[in-house]
Amino acid sequence: MSEELSPAEKAKFICAKRAMDFVKPGMRLGLGTGSTATWLVRLIGEEVRKNGLQIIAVATSAQTANLARECGIPVHTLDEVKWLDLTIDGADEFDPKLNLIKGGGGALLQEKIVATASDRVVVIADASKDVEVLGRFPLPVEVVKFGWMTTKGLIEEAISNLDVLGQTVTLRMKNDTPFVTDEGHYILDLHLLQIGNPREMSLILNQIPGVVETGLFLDIADVVVIGHVDGRVEVRDINTGTVEFERIDIVEQDNMFMDL
Ligand code: A5P
Repeated sequence: MSEELSPAEKAKFICAKRAMDFVKPGMRLGLGTGSTATWLVRLIGEEVRKNGLQIIAVATSAQTANLARECGIPVHTLDEVKWLDLTIDGADEFDPKLNLIKGGGGALLQEKIVATASDRVVVIADASKDVEVLGRFPLPVEVVKFGWMTTKGLIEEAISNLDVLGQTVTLRMKNDTPFVTDEGHYILDLHLLQIGNPREMSLILNQIPGVVETGLFLDIADVVVIGHVDGRVEVRDINTGTVEFERIDIVEQDNMFMDL
């Protein structure tokens, strides 16, 4: 399979593969959304189908729920399970404190609810997501459709007083129509370039009535598993302060496409 994967995709795959070490039988497990989390769901599906792994899975999007079922993983609602042992999800950016920007795939609301309902959150990401300061990736903000233009104006006014380098706000589109989230909302992408104070930004944006949630995940992640294009995987634990490196090889039986 390694020949079929680009270096960037390989980096996503190896961090997902390393994150499998955190998955234990019987766990109540939150499944993330996005291209990196897709690898994880496929790997878990393999374990479920081939080795009878039993987990209680909750998905963070309709897309992930569909993929999980295709892979043979039974999916439960969060209301059925209520609390989770672990969530493993991707990120668009992470900083040295393991604060995140998420929502590039539009699933930030369910992702944040699921992550917050988890004892432990492990982020899986390739090294390109590793930043000193959040904000190069546009910050997704989920807003209700009603009065969204007014909400956009209030967001623009709010960010003009905050420590950022850019102030452009755009409505996320899919083809020629606004992108609609699983919860029926719109997404505004805030092109801030640098967010000097993510906590202040999060508090201020969440006070605007039309804002449902922001893609700033602060003090939520415990561990990040970083995939490097050279095959190394780095595991940083924010609670213990430990950093571990290892090399993950892609072997023939990793060919999940064949199995699906
Ligand atoms: C989905 O809404 C996002 O939060 C994803 O977790 C994030 O965009 C990372 O996605 P990739 O793994 O595709 O980069």
